[in-house]
Amino acid sequence: MSYSWYPTWIDRKNRYSRTDNVFFDPQKFATIGVGIGLPNIVQKSTFSFRNVKDGADRFLGQSQSGEKPFARIYTRLGNPTTEHLEKLLFRLDCQHIIDAALAADEKKPTIGTLVFSSGMGAISCTTYALVKSGDTIISGGVYGCTDSFFRSLAKFGVSVKFINITDLCKVKEALAEASNPAMIFLESPDNPTLRISDISAISKLAEEYKIPLVIDNTFATPYLQQPFRLGADIVIQSLTKYINGHSTSVAGVVNGPWEFMNEHLFPVFKDHGPTASPFDSWLNTQGVQTLHVRMEQACDTAEELAKRLEKHARVERVWYPGLPSHPQHELAKKQMRRFGGMISFELKDGFEPAQKLMNYFASYTTPMELAVSLGSAISYIQHPASMTHSGIPEQDRVSRGITNGLVRLSLGLEGMENLWEAIVDGLEKAYDAK
Ligand SMILES: Cc1ncc(COP(=O)(O)O)c(C=O)c1O
Repeated sequence: MSYSWYPTWIDRKNRYSRTDNVFFDPQKFATIGVGIGLPNIVQKSTFSFRNVKDGADRFLGQSQSGEKPFARIYTRLGNPTTEHLEKLLFRLDCQHIIDAALAADEKKPTIGTLVFSSGMGAISCTTYALVKSGDTIISGGVYGCTDSFFRSLAKFGVSVKFINITDLCKVKEALAEASNPAMIFLESPDNPTLRISDISAISKLAEEYKIPLVIDNTFATPYLQQPFRLGADIVIQSLTKYINGHSTSVAGVVNGPWEFMNEHLFPVFKDHGPTASPFDSWLNTQGVQTLHVRMEQACDTAEELAKRLEKHARVERVWYPGLPSHPQHELAKKQMRRFGGMISFELKDGFEPAQKLMNYFASYTTPMELAVSLGSAISYIQHPASMTHSGIPEQDRVSRGITNGLVRLSLGLEGMENLWEAIVDGLEKAYDAK
């Protein structure tokens, strides 16, 4: 309603999204990642123009030679190494849209990609581009900094309504009650409780209210879940995690409708300045090449470990979308290729043994690190209540299931049996020492 780009996007949405083919061929995925190759690292802040007209054209968003005009002006606005990564990420999430556009001989771009210096840069700029004073954001349970960022917008007159977004009745209720709902924002699976939301059903509600559905797809990546095919309008990822895959850089990405990217998001990006460094973009291009292989192994490990953890006498509850005991297991099967490399669990007797288990992994001799972040070749264990989600007011945090006894694992490439052996040993020590 409040965005001039939206009505045209509705047409495209009906054409390109909610395809029956929810996943695309893993082989094709590998070809995209590896096939394009690595770019040069263009470690420059500014670029010389061919002549005055060339400079003026680029500032108008036009280039004679076909490359992204803003990638050859000044690196805050864009950079050739980052442009290469943007093309790659664009194809991973939007190949079906590109195929449809080519088949229809479309000349105008309909969807675009912008890389940021962090996942939070991508989330905050997208939000600034979408909301104004008096608006309400409807959000599911989200990463701690996304949560605190949304709350911080109160000083600009923007409110946020956090709901249990896995419950469609709550989404309908929030939409009906909110003053000027401006966007629905969700993570699926969410961080750290791994709840799954019905993206397709929620996108239909967003469409009724003519507001965009923004998905943070960091946990799944485009390899496991393709939100545009389910009806999402804007898809965000923290590249810091699975795309990089080795914990060597921080970056983020937004994919969204062209008018939004061009007329609303790019101006915010340009003036706020959350630009990825060329070297980080190069690292992330390298990360894309192995994403499918790493993701498969992380899923193998997590699927088996979740089953074993669920049977362990010291474990009270395991949250993993691949387990039949997970409340949205059936939905996860429909939306995701596999269930991902993240597990959360509660130990019997709560925080005390959980703390001992985490301290066990603080030792450099164990095959997992006591650290935040996720999606790396290295496995991590952490305590959301005191670490990643410590900024959420306690009552809200606990009501979302982020209890003091909840522990989150990100499974890497150390090998399932090595990890299991260490977890069993760590659990024994955690309870022995009581
Ligand atoms: C789901 C999710 N989204 C966004 C972010 C923020 O990403 P970044 O740390 O790259 O800013 C994180 C970070 O942990 C995350 O887990």
